[in-house]
Amino acid sequence: MKDPSIRRSVALFRAFMGEQTDPDRCYTLLAHDAADQLERQMTLSDRLVVDVGGGPGHFTEEFRRRGAQSYLFEPDLRELSARGTVPAGSVVADGYLLPLADGVADVCFSSNVLEHVADPQTFLSELIRVTRPGGLIYVSFTNWLSPWGGHEWAPWHYLGADRARARYLRRTGRPAKHALGENLFAIHIGPTLRQVRAREDVSLVTARSRYWPFLARAVTRVPGLREIATWNLLLILRRRTETAAEMDSPLRATRG
Ligand SMILES: C[S@@+](CC[C@H](N)C(=O)[O-])C[C@H]1O[C@@H](n2cnc3c(N)ncnc32)[C@H](O)[C@@H]1O
Repeated sequence: MKDPSIRRSVALFRAFMGEQTDPDRCYTLLAHDAADQLERQMTLSDRLVVDVGGGPGHFTEEFRRRGAQSYLFEPDLRELSARGTVPAGSVVADGYLLPLADGVADVCFSSNVLEHVADPQTFLSELIRVTRPGGLIYVSFTNWLSPWGGHEWAPWHYLGADRARARYLRRTGRPAKHALGENLFAIHIGPTLRQVRAREDVSLVTARSRYWPFLARAVTRVPGLREIATWNLLLILRRRTETAAEMDSPLRATRG
């Protein structure tokens, strides 16, 4: 499906609404869509693709279906085995400290994980470290002020996390999966974009709303509005071949 387009966004929205009853359908469609987004920048066939925080592996599966050699890194065994079995080629590992050498991946992929880590910049540095120069880093996250920022207790997070969690418990009789400051963190679009743009080791290929059917890039450029209207920010970064500091280094002159 063409991205962005109303048809695509409606299909994703419908699948998302059925996430609780039919998670496989929802995540298979989302994985297909994310792989299409990546393939607009780089074909996946024969690439080494690392999926960090990939849950039960729908994205890894889709990358493999397209001919990539893909590995899943996920720290939570319950997430990893949510479909009954642990997917082949998966590693129980934390995204802060990936058991991978520098620059091995053609693509480092992380969907909807950044809002679940306390230090997103350090997490991002690790994704960049394992990506080869010229390779891509795909990162998306739901920001705190998005209508979906509170996850299962959204949109009541606008009234405060504690109140929203208490309401969820009252309504469902179950404690919410996410707790602010424990496994969900208030991440914002403006500061994230500034931090990414300031980095010397990556260039920004695209910053856009992941799901919007129109104005997907424009919406991320308007301070204030972008925090509410972007919904979910998608960043595609390219690892630079050489940072400015390396180019200025006296070692470089002696090497060459
Ligand atoms: C909302 S799920 C996203 C799953 C999948 N990537 C997707 O887009 O559907 C967030 C995932 O991030 C994982 N996660 C949380 N902290 C992490 C960390 N430090 N390193 C790697 N993954 C982490 C969780 O275990 C969970 O599987």
